[in-house]
Amino acid sequence: MCGIIGVASKTNQALQMILQGLEKLEYRGYDSAGLAYVKENNIVITKTKGRIKDLEEKINKQDHASIGIGHTRWATHGEANEINAHPHQVGKITIVHNGIIENYQELKKKLESFGYSFRSSTDTEVACALLDYYYQQTKSVEKAIQVFMKEAIGSYAIGLLCQEEKETLYALKKDSPLILASSKDTNFMASDIPAILEYTNTYYLLDDYEYAVITQDQISFYNKEGEPLQKEEKHYDATKEASSKGSYPHYMIKEIMEQPDTIWKTMEPFVEDGLASLKKLPSLKKYDRIDIVACGTAWHAGLVGKYFLEEYASIPVDVCLASEYRYKRLFLSSRVLVIFISQSGETADTLAALKRVKQEEGDTLGIINVKDSSIARFVDRVIYTQAGCEIAVASTKAFTAQVAILILLALTAAYEKGTMKEKEVLTFLEELRHLKAKLTPLLSNREVYQKIAEELYQKEDIFYLGRGLDYDLMMEGALKLKEISYIPSVCYAAGELKHGTISLVKEATPIIASCTNPLLDPKTMSNLKETKARGAKIYLITNNEELAKDKDIDSVLLLEKTSEFLVPFLVIIPLQLLAYEIALLRKCDIDKPRNLAKAVTVE
Ligand code: M6R
Repeated sequence: MCGIIGVASKTNQALQMILQGLEKLEYRGYDSAGLAYVKENNIVITKTKGRIKDLEEKINKQDHASIGIGHTRWATHGEANEINAHPHQVGKITIVHNGIIENYQELKKKLESFGYSFRSSTDTEVACALLDYYYQQTKSVEKAIQVFMKEAIGSYAIGLLCQEEKETLYALKKDSPLILASSKDTNFMASDIPAILEYTNTYYLLDDYEYAVITQDQISFYNKEGEPLQKEEKHYDATKEASSKGSYPHYMIKEIMEQPDTIWKTMEPFVEDGLASLKKLPSLKKYDRIDIVACGTAWHAGLVGKYFLEEYASIPVDVCLASEYRYKRLFLSSRVLVIFISQSGETADTLAALKRVKQEEGDTLGIINVKDSSIARFVDRVIYTQAGCEIAVASTKAFTAQVAILILLALTAAYEKGTMKEKEVLTFLEELRHLKAKLTPLLSNREVYQKIAEELYQKEDIFYLGRGLDYDLMMEGALKLKEISYIPSVCYAAGELKHGTISLVKEATPIIASCTNPLLDPKTMSNLKETKARGAKIYLITNNEELAKDKDIDSVLLLEKTSEFLVPFLVIIPLQLLAYEIALLRKCDIDKPRNLAKAVTVE
């Protein structure tokens, strides 16, 4: 989850480049930060608890360097403080690390018996000592890396400096992402592309058990035996503006506002030419069951996908949390497809679940946002969402892009299986083509959400209720609010309330609900009235004009009447905006919420 960067430059601007890169990587983790650089004959280390701006203040403004490494941390072992912050230095070796060394306790004991002692509570300091130990034995960093790769269990992307080779930077990787890149005068290593977009948008990928040797002149790649490798140059299809806030105060609001474009960009290749383009999506005809595996918001997108695949294509779908799926019995066969959904393509649990399915020879499909990410490269087939760089920790535009693909997959499957007629499919495709125009008014109406936010931002808890598809969407709405505003918000299937939870409803408890399904709406309305009878205040999102007039509803957002295929987009955008406005009033750190990080690359 941490962000790492390394720079070897012909200029003396390495410090600035590292700091700039770390700022771009800060969304990966932001509880402490540090960097190390070569100054004259020494490796200087500066670290701090807090953010990159705190680190910037601590750095000696007179210093210049042409080589160095930097780190922004999301604590795994040991609290967020200066001692535990990276870089760690042991003997001749200094490293920054993203990942977890699982056998660090065992390695620590062994290294202590060789005379090493440790200051921090981190696994990274142990990794550093292990690298130093083998360096001292072999007097070769490369040999030390090769033995380290055999002995360390777990995940790592490491940037390394050695006291005896001050013009060289090393990078090694297993199970945590790492890229290498070159601009005209500088070579980089980084955990993520935004760190280097300012300088270049071509890059190389390091695979597991590979390492790179980086100088200001070149980057060389090796496998774990030390044999040289040729790497294919990759191109990232975005400019540096893609990872900047532009004129918005937060990435989250920028990303919410981008949705009409990102949803359209994601759908366009599959809807532009009617059925001919829909057929570009993979066929689901041979499958009797689909398992969807994901975490967090991507899991919610999976729930929405399940609704459409089951309702319209009659395919039974299980939606599983990756952290559970990776350890459960799987019941796979050639008639089961496993779909992995992930924005980052690096989520550790989702990746581990995928590896298990591959081991059991299951069929896999990925719906992934980040090109060439680990999950994207490992699945049998990948469909890329076109959400672009999503920087805010709270996922918004990636969710709607994932839902767009799942809806199109359901339409394809329904057409193939004959559960929907060609004419019906074409009608829905046509409606999706006009989605953009329907979303724009929802986004330009911020005062509506600001007004509700004023009423809600000081509440101690907020309930979200719905049935069917509305329940799935409310779960995502409640997650958005929890993540960025820290207001405890629970989401319940409306019919489940009476089985215990209604005991929490008291005078003025806010209930946010959506009713967009004529078959289920009367039931949900009855449940809402039960809460009203106990003093609740009801905020309803609906496309049903009659319900909107109900006297028990305190506040209504009336949506345009559309087919169900458009409902997820129309319902979730108001919920995203409401969470944003509430967090804004509570003065929360919206893009970097407490304790969270963007890509969850540890289990
Ligand atoms: O990168 P992924 O889509 O695999 O991430 C999955 C979750 O960690 C992610 O959706 C998380 O729940 C977000 N912070 C939600 O806003």
